[in-house]
Amino acid sequence: MKVQQIKFNNKTHNYSILIGKNILGVLSKKIKLLCPKARKIALVIDKKVPSKFKNRIKNQLKNFEIVHLSFEANEKNKSIVSVNKYLNILLSKNFNRSDLVIGIGGGITGDVVGFTASLFKRGINFFNIPTTLLAQVDSAVGGKTGVNTMHGKNLIGSFYQPKLVISDTSFLSSLPKKQMICGYAEILKHSIIKDLNFFNWLKKNTKEILNKNSDKLIFAIKKSCSIKMYFVDKDVNEKGLRMKLNFGHTFAHAIEAKSRYSKNLTHGEAVLSGMILATKLSCIKKVCKRKTLREIMDIYERNNFTYTFKKYSNPKLIENLIPFIKNDKKNNDEKINFILLNKIGKTTNPYSSKISVNNLRRYSKIISQY
Ligand SMILES: NC(=O)c1ccc[n+]([C@@H]2O[C@H](COP(=O)([O-])OP(=O)(O)OC[C@H]3O[C@@H](n4cnc5c(N)ncnc54)[C@H](O)[C@@H]3O)[C@@H](O)[C@H]2O)c1
Repeated sequence: MKVQQIKFNNKTHNYSILIGKNILGVLSKKIKLLCPKARKIALVIDKKVPSKFKNRIKNQLKNFEIVHLSFEANEKNKSIVSVNKYLNILLSKNFNRSDLVIGIGGGITGDVVGFTASLFKRGINFFNIPTTLLAQVDSAVGGKTGVNTMHGKNLIGSFYQPKLVISDTSFLSSLPKKQMICGYAEILKHSIIKDLNFFNWLKKNTKEILNKNSDKLIFAIKKSCSIKMYFVDKDVNEKGLRMKLNFGHTFAHAIEAKSRYSKNLTHGEAVLSGMILATKLSCIKKVCKRKTLREIMDIYERNNFTYTFKKYSNPKLIENLIPFIKNDKKNNDEKINFILLNKIGKTTNPYSSKISVNNLRRYSKIISQY
């Protein structure tokens, strides 16, 4: 059992991400170390996580009073209703702040359980055990928690860091291909915005990642978490630099909203479309060379991801995204904030590329010609 570790250390927070295959055995030792006063543990587990993992976790926690809660992870249940339900259960079982809440599941579970933990008596110990690739490379890193509302996705939430993240790649064995592609999209994004060498490595290793080769996965998860951490560490509350992580996401959020968050479209697939549209926009704005766009497209072609953006060779369909882009919560005036690409490994700075709706309408006709 080889465990890789990334430490997150700044003025206010200090926690680690552990990455490896079959590493859940570290859990009880870590609880003793990080939450020495914990007597009760609430385990909130995504229903689709195979039961062998639940048993493996429960077997280690025999000395604690365990409350087991299973969660049906979908965007509808990512709600204040679920949070309220869990808060009431914790209250009725007399949990206190030195006890522990563990979320075991994908990004939805992590966001809901993390938000619950941040609210309970103003913050109870929280461990995150991500079980999807997206959660392991993205959502479990950085401390954003939250729920959806009828007004939009992720509009209520908090910044709350876990005491520990355990990313065990053995969870991924049951994950469908579509969900692997979803997580891969964020891995690719991390390479594009920050690390040319990692991008070149991905050119050679994408197929093996999607085929769940454990060593390649561990390398990609570690690299991805380090890149996300780099931005989070410099800007925990997302006032500036961290926004670079939104590369491709302005289009992606609009694509998801336009599809009414259809189950047939994962967030990662929308990000794959969004990154191509954002790179094309970067070429139109002449901050990026076409050669860079070709390089990115090449990865898409080799791995059959082109289906994610084919539809957007139709200018009308790009234009139809504009009302949804305008609604995105990250836009604070009439102009739309984009993170554009200069070259692989370098984006423009937040707030430096604002585009008016009229210009965006003009560009949507040209984007489709690229
Ligand atoms: N907090 C953040 O910084 C952040 C960042 C990115 C995304 N997110 C959020 O994360 C969510 C998306 O996360 P996700 O893609 O992990 O979605 P998810 O949690 O819905 O998981 C995807 C699907 O996989 C299932 N699943 C989970 N683990 C499994 C396993 N081991 N085997 C088989 N099936 C499994 C789930 O039940 C679900 O059906 C969105 O709500 C998004 O807003 C948050």
